Amino acid sequence: MSKYILSIDQGTTSSRAILFTKDADVFGTAQQEFSQHFPQNGWVEHDPNDIWQTVLSTSRKVLADKNVKPEEIIAIGITNQRETTLVWNKKTGKPIYNAIVWQDRRTSDYCESLSTDELCQTISDKTGLLLDPYFSATKVRWILDNVEGAREQALAGELAFGTVDTYLLWHLTGGKEHRTDATNASRTMLFNIHTQQWDQELLDLFEIPESMLPKVMDSADEFGSTSDDIFGAPIRVCGIAGDQQAALVGHACFEQGMAKSTYGTGCFLMLNTGEKALTSENRLLTTVAYRLNGKPTYAIEGSIFMAGATMQWIVEGLKLLSHAGESESLVKDVPLDHGVFLVPSFTGLGAPYWDPNARGAILGLTRDSGISTIVAAALQSVGYQTKDLQKAMERDGLRPSVLRVDGGMVKNNWVLTFLSNILGATVERPTVTETTSLGVAYLAGLQTGIYESTEQLAKMWTCDRRFEPTMSADERNDLYAKWQHCVAQVRLSSD
Ligand code: G3P
Repeated sequence: MSKYILSIDQGTTSSRAILFTKDADVFGTAQQEFSQHFPQNGWVEHDPNDIWQTVLSTSRKVLADKNVKPEEIIAIGITNQRETTLVWNKKTGKPIYNAIVWQDRRTSDYCESLSTDELCQTISDKTGLLLDPYFSATKVRWILDNVEGAREQALAGELAFGTVDTYLLWHLTGGKEHRTDATNASRTMLFNIHTQQWDQELLDLFEIPESMLPKVMDSADEFGSTSDDIFGAPIRVCGIAGDQQAALVGHACFEQGMAKSTYGTGCFLMLNTGEKALTSENRLLTTVAYRLNGKPTYAIEGSIFMAGATMQWIVEGLKLLSHAGESESLVKDVPLDHGVFLVPSFTGLGAPYWDPNARGAILGLTRDSGISTIVAAALQSVGYQTKDLQKAMERDGLRPSVLRVDGGMVKNNWVLTFLSNILGATVERPTVTETTSLGVAYLAGLQTGIYESTEQLAKMWTCDRRFEPTMSADERNDLYAKWQHCVAQVRLSSD
């Protein structure tokens, strides 16, 4: 009898496969990291084979470790790093270039060259996004312009484009299904989030033939079945969502006004706005939160590029710690107003600044600044950047009363205490912190009928710990004003 849901979470630095029971408990986990490629300043690539092989091996491993047969899997859910762009040959399945990762800034100049007020408005009206290298459209165009023979092959209908979910689905189904879901489509800058269709005007602008595009489905849907050679027996794929949207679902933020923030490589704060696609006046994104039964629910999103990746730099780049987990005990006695600020604009600044040219800086160093101060500043940068997003949302008239959080960094109580203090808001950490994978397990479970409704899922969500602010408003305002001054410095030096 089928008992489990297999969630595949293909992230920026690793692939994970998690088995969930029907009660949404984690039954087994496998994880594998893979190499990042930085061929030039500001470029970030993944080897598509690494993406596929790590997904395949972690999925097989978790089944083998737990002695679970494919017949015992009710369905698969796929969640993924979003925007990362792959183009492959439809006949051979062979990618014609590496995956261009969401962090990659190679199309900055091209975006700038297009950047008229009128076009920015058109893009924002149709896609809810800003004209920025972050999204897939200019990455696809770059591949078509720079890989020999690519444009001719694309025009002949021989090439397929996909975000990571689509690429994985293609391989899992033995090249049968070229599909994505509405959340992933909404991050390409080619998808009209109001009509829920690919947009011909944008396809013409970026010179991308429609034949390259996947079919857009609901987030809970029948995406196809795995081919027999993958697990030995076919398994239905019944849920797909971009990882941030999946986390929103995993936090059961189904009500308008509920918000979550995920601290992975980057940080992504998403607030459910219900049936309405609200437009931000403060450079936040409008995106599809999930689409169920043909009906989209929308969200406002603030995306920050460096959260856990800042700690990765502290550990691997500066070698100040042997692993990020050491940071909590190291910083516990550092006063919050130590005066050192780390602005992690290593690959530019995301929301609400959208400045691709800003670069990182540590400011305010004095003779007594030590490793613990720099590590504290790195951890606090995550809180300050979340505050930037909260401020932008407030200017748009949105203020979530509670923020639900997940991702590797939320194990750190010092980080969440500071976050709650600098936001002046309640921060909730869930019991099941595998929120992204849980979200797509929920979606697959909704499709297969294990779960009846989002209301049922909302009742299943439980809180591990609630962090309440204790900092005075004066102290909060003072710290934040200093942070803003530092951000202004790194932006000035990018001119
Ligand atoms: O938009 C990029 C985001 O989806 C990446 O998420 O968890 O791989 O850092 P993550």
